[in-house]
Amino acid sequence: MDRLLSMTDAKDQIKTILDIASDLKSGKITEKPLKDKYLGMIFEKSSTRTRVSFEVGMHQLGGTPLYLSSKDLQLNRGEPIPDTARVLSRFLDCIMIRAKKHENVEELADYASIPIISGLTDKEHPCQAFADLLTIKEYKGDYNRKLVFIGDGNNVCNSLLLASAYVGMDMVVACPEGYEPDKEIYELAKEEAKKTNANISIEHNIHEAVKDADVLYTDVWVSMGDEEEQEERERIFKPYQINKQLLSEAKEDAIVMHCLPAIRDQEITDDVMTSSQSAIWDQAENRLHAQKAILYTILKE
Ligand code: CP
Ligand code: NVA
Repeated sequence: MDRLLSMTDAKDQIKTILDIASDLKSGKITEKPLKDKYLGMIFEKSSTRTRVSFEVGMHQLGGTPLYLSSKDLQLNRGEPIPDTARVLSRFLDCIMIRAKKHENVEELADYASIPIISGLTDKEHPCQAFADLLTIKEYKGDYNRKLVFIGDGNNVCNSLLLASAYVGMDMVVACPEGYEPDKEIYELAKEEAKKTNANISIEHNIHEAVKDADVLYTDVWVSMGDEEEQEERERIFKPYQINKQLLSEAKEDAIVMHCLPAIRDQEITDDVMTSSQSAIWDQAENRLHAQKAILYTILKE
C-alpha cells in the first residue's frame, strides 16, 4: 500500500492491518521499526484524536512526527501543491494530511514520491474506519453484524460504507432525504458488498433502520466546512438522534459508536455516551492502535 486516501486503497490489506493493530495493542509486536523515519503531519482543520494518535504512534514505533500547520507553511501564501509535494518528499518518509478538499490530497499524492495518508477530507476518513473495524471486532468477535449509521451521509459514513462492504458487514445509512452518502462511493460499496454477501442500503426512517442493529453509529450533524448550513442542518437532523429510546429499539446487546467530537443533545445524548452499551471511548483509543498499524504497514522496511 503506497497511499491511503480512500478505503479503496486499503481494500486488499484490511485484514493484515487489523491483525497488526491487534498485535500492537496486545503487546505481541514490540519492535520499533520506524527509527530514522519522519512523518510530516499537515493540518488544514482542527484535530484532537488524529493529531495525537499519529504523533504518539509514530514515537512509539521509533519514528519522528512533525506537526505542520497549513497556516505556517508556504502553502498558505500560495506555493503550489505540486512544489510542496516535491520538496517535502526530499525531507520526509511519509505525509499524513487533513485537508479541506479531497482533490488537493489527491494532487499532493500524485506529485509526492513518498506515501500520503489522509487524516480526513470532505469525502472520506479512512483512518477512522480502521479504528472502527477494530472496535467492532473486539466487541462483537466478527463482522456478521448490522451497523446502522444515523445522521449525515458524510466523510465518516463514506469510508465506513466501503469498510463494511469489504469485510462483509451489513450497513444501513439512516439519513434525511438530501443528506445521503457520496453517490459514487455508495454504488461502489453496493457492488463490493455483493462479493462479500453484505447488504448496504439507505433508509430514511430511523425506527425501521435500527431494528435488529448490532451497532448504532453517529457523527456530528455539522461537519467542519458545513458551518454555514448549521441552523438548517440542526432543524433537519433533529429526529436523527441516538438516545435511550432509539437504543432500546436495536438489539439488546447493541453497542453505540461515535468518531468524536460529539455534540451532546444533538446527534447523541450524554446518557447513551456514558452507558454500558457505549464503545465510544475504546473506539477513540483504537485510533492509536489503528494508526500505528497503518504506519507500520506503509513504512516498515
Ligand atoms: N475522529 C477524529 O478524527 O477526531 P479528531 O477530529 O479529533 O482528529
Ligand atoms: N464528519 C466530521 C468528522 C470529524 C472527525 C467532520 O468532518 O467534521
